[in-house]
Amino acid sequence: MSPIVDMVEVHKSYGRVEVLKGVTFSVDKGEVAAIIGQSGSGKSTALRCMDRLETIQAGTLEVCGHRLDTPNLDLRALRRDVGIVFQSYNLYPHLTVEQNVTLALRLVRRIGRAEARERAANVLRKVGMLDKLAAYPEQLSGGQQQRVAIARGLAMEPKLMLFDEVTSALDPQLTGEVLRVMEELAAEGMTMVLVTHEMSFARRVADKVIYMRDGRVHEMGTSDILRTPQTKELGEFISEATDA
Ligand SMILES: Nc1ncnc2c1ncn2[C@@H]1O[C@H](COP(=O)(O)OP(=O)(O)OP(=O)(O)O)[C@@H](O)[C@H]1O
Ligand SMILES: [Mg+2]
Repeated sequence: MSPIVDMVEVHKSYGRVEVLKGVTFSVDKGEVAAIIGQSGSGKSTALRCMDRLETIQAGTLEVCGHRLDTPNLDLRALRRDVGIVFQSYNLYPHLTVEQNVTLALRLVRRIGRAEARERAANVLRKVGMLDKLAAYPEQLSGGQQQRVAIARGLAMEPKLMLFDEVTSALDPQLTGEVLRVMEELAAEGMTMVLVTHEMSFARRVADKVIYMRDGRVHEMGTSDILRTPQTKELGEFISEATDA
């Protein structure tokens, strides 16, 4: 079976600045891959390429069976298969929790009102937010808002979930709530790629750890590389991490 993500020698530049300098990795179905690395090393860019929020200039990239490096990519079909959650929750402030989750289901998926509400209830239960159906985002904590954002992604029933530092804006307790939700998803077999600074979470949950440095994959392996890094650079990076 081909991998869910297959990135081969991908190059990406912004103007003259090359940010991805030949990045190669793959993620299999059901696998959890954690991308770690210093600020500016290209982690978010790599993630954004997988949802075609960025286009690549060289290399090949296949995600959920879609070739992203071809002009005839069906973007809607790709976006149906891939959910993405960012550090900022991007919820609509004028819509309730339930409406935030059902909006894309109704507009993009053309799912009827009753079924959309049922799906919303299911995913909100999963992230522990069912009792906040009628609340507006400003009435929720950051961690609660982030869990709603995750529920919104899950409602679309994606084959792959991408997370970009979804807990960075949260204090430790709220971070824990969100990480627990992600850990449950992993246990249920969701294929996930996450950019994270949470070393202990990566050590516990990730099947594959990808250490990026200056636009390249500097070291990659199972979460064992977080315990016994093979390169001096990864060793230093881990020892500088706050929760190591
Ligand atoms: N839209 C853009 N235009 C120009 N340069 C960009 C753009 N987005 C990112 N960059 C540059 O690309 C490099 C990699 O950025 P990226 O956001 O992928 O890093 P990162 O590893 O996610 O960092 P962080 O940990 O700070 O989020 C940085 O030098 C950044 O300044
Ligand atoms: Mg980033």
